[in-house]
Amino acid sequence: MDIKVPRGTQDILPTETGKWQIVEDLIRETCRMYQYKEIRTPIFEHTELFTRSVGDTTDIVQKEMYTFQDRGDRSLTLRPEGTASVVRSYVEHKMFGYPDQPVKLYYMGPMFRYERQQAGRYRQFVQFGIEAIGSADPAIDAEVISLAMSVYQKAGLKQIKLVINSLGDTESRVSHKEALVNHFAPHIDEFCSDCQNRLQKNPLRILDCKVDREHSLMKTAPSLTDYLNEESAAYFAKVKEYLSVLNIPFEVDPNLVRGLDYYNHTAFEIMSVAEGFGAITTLAGGGRYNGLVEVLGGPSSPGIGFAMSIERLLLAVEAEKNTWADNSSLDVYVIGMGEAAKKKVVELVYELRQNNITADQDFLDRKIKTQMKSADRLKAKFVLVIGDDELEKQSAMLKDLSTGNQQLVPFSTLTEQVKNSISTWVEAEK
Ligand code: HAM
Repeated sequence: MDIKVPRGTQDILPTETGKWQIVEDLIRETCRMYQYKEIRTPIFEHTELFTRSVGDTTDIVQKEMYTFQDRGDRSLTLRPEGTASVVRSYVEHKMFGYPDQPVKLYYMGPMFRYERQQAGRYRQFVQFGIEAIGSADPAIDAEVISLAMSVYQKAGLKQIKLVINSLGDTESRVSHKEALVNHFAPHIDEFCSDCQNRLQKNPLRILDCKVDREHSLMKTAPSLTDYLNEESAAYFAKVKEYLSVLNIPFEVDPNLVRGLDYYNHTAFEIMSVAEGFGAITTLAGGGRYNGLVEVLGGPSSPGIGFAMSIERLLLAVEAEKNTWADNSSLDVYVIGMGEAAKKKVVELVYELRQNNITADQDFLDRKIKTQMKSADRLKAKFVLVIGDDELEKQSAMLKDLSTGNQQLVPFSTLTEQVKNSISTWVEAEK
């Protein structure tokens, strides 16, 4: 049998999970600082949730969803993103009635898109995202962006760039849409069939077409910026002002339209500019989605958020040649010689662990020398050795692997002594 992981998915092996945990911890800690609370929604949803919110002319809905009929003949879809689910949940649980608004939520979990696999693009990937629903204050746009930037900073990234744009409100978009139709219509037969469909339904989507990216009409297409009405332009100006207050540098890119339909006003992406980062440079994307709560049956509640994949964050760290702290440390490796000692080893390892000391032992009856090598490989701070002599004295030999110093410690005070030795060891490392 030769069964491998499905294309576009990956096993995250024990040699890699340490980094993931560091990133997950720093994300949770950042969300705690910013007062975003975790929400966990199902991995699959009714297909209609995504067609209605992400938009039925988007690549995600048209080409990338894992959709299936369940045994009750319902159409379900593995979630391709998190915003739709969070907003569904916000409406379903009437979070608009919570006394504290906006409701600030975060999520972290697998998302699924049937995309062509390449570096940084997977069919199953882990997104961390946040959503702040219930405020149309431009200060929260800046807060959302600053949270994303802060996560990257804490992960040690320096070579990143923030790009922002405004997609305007409904009025601005209607006049922009008209201009787009006039621009593309005379030459639409030179575009792919998807773009031809998009022309009347949703011409903005033409701008992020992957097939016709190089067509000369793309560069000269009317820019949204020129169609922003006064209110939208004022909102965008405020967002930029708040970003400056936070000292967050940004570039304005009038061509940034994002690939999902629910956006309006602020749209942003964070890119890696590190040399050696693959062809896909977007690390995170997000924006404002006033109106989405209403589309999903709730009262008018403006929202904004972003999402990033952990995979791309880790790739960016690698491209910048940063290293991670080792979080797999072992305090004590316990070695026994002989049957009687083995029983004591089993007992001691358990006792140490009960006292919050990380401990491990051999399970292959290997020679003491081989066990010492294991202790070294596992980067143990100490080893405890118990042989016949030690057993007779009801003691164990405690050896500091960094200095080679050793002392005989009675079983009765062993846990205390090991704790003290670890504290001294940690102090010395500082
Ligand atoms: P998105 O731009 O589709 O937006 O995805 C956001 C991020 O998810 C991307 O920047 C990238 O880091 C990651 N990502 C997307 N597709 C893949 C893939 N195939 N492999 C690896 N990583 C991927 C959204 O999903 C919106 N829900 C973001 C948002 C939240 N907007 C408002 N709130």
